Amino acid sequence: MIEDKLFKDVIRSRRSPRSFLSTPVPQALLQVVVEDARNTPSNCNYQPWIVHIVSGASRDKLSSAFLEAAAEQTFSWDFPFDFESSYGIYAERRQAQGAAYYEAAGIMKDAKERRSYAMMQNLQFFGAPHVALLFMAPVYETVRVAGDVGMYGQSFLLSLEAHGLAGIPQTLLSFFAGTAREELGIDPMYKMLFGISFGYPEPGNPVNSFPLSKASIAETVTFHG
Ligand SMILES: Cc1cc2nc3c(=O)[nH]c(=O)nc-3n(C[C@H](O)[C@H](O)[C@H](O)COP(=O)(O)O)c2cc1C
Repeated sequence: MIEDKLFKDVIRSRRSPRSFLSTPVPQALLQVVVEDARNTPSNCNYQPWIVHIVSGASRDKLSSAFLEAAAEQTFSWDFPFDFESSYGIYAERRQAQGAAYYEAAGIMKDAKERRSYAMMQNLQFFGAPHVALLFMAPVYETVRVAGDVGMYGQSFLLSLEAHGLAGIPQTLLSFFAGTAREELGIDPMYKMLFGISFGYPEPGNPVNSFPLSKASIAETVTFHG
């Protein structure tokens, strides 16, 4: 097993890969990641995350069900997502990120073709052998539960990075929340926030390392006093 990296290297080298090797992660290592992630803080210590990790034949079946739902345009999201609602600096960041990804992937075609390529890649989990689906328990207020589950996601991602793995959070998977619940036999009371495809990133593939700018500290942080 790979030794844990220094925190500074973990947090600064984490990226969202969009191409994975098919090599499965040993169960013992999966266990370490979920052991790390269970230390996540939450409002009132509710720990409202309900996590389903899908691998092997179940992963292939889930991907097929997602692709079928997408082909039929059968969306079953719990929380709709409007790509067009971004504006100003947020629209700029979204467009810059998308353009860098499509360039790295060599997809220079029109917007419709790009969207359909991204949809296919997302629903095939970018080739990753595992996907974790993060559902929310119906306690207190949705926004706060989402905050807690988001924190769980980051713990999970950082643990992957610390152990030589990587993952990509995917809101797009939650567009098919109903399909996921049906495939995996999950109670409809649990709402899906996002998924994380994960495994060993494919070395050298430009989609895993294209340049991406992060906002300056001055743009996002104000120090008082
Ligand atoms: C909650 C969340 C949902 C995301 N959903 C998607 C997604 O559906 N598809 C995708 O390709 N990337 C998705 N991303 C990845 C972001 O595009 C990525 O985190 C961002 O561009 C910054 O890149 P980095 O993670 O490599 O630093 C998501 C990220 C987060 C945090």
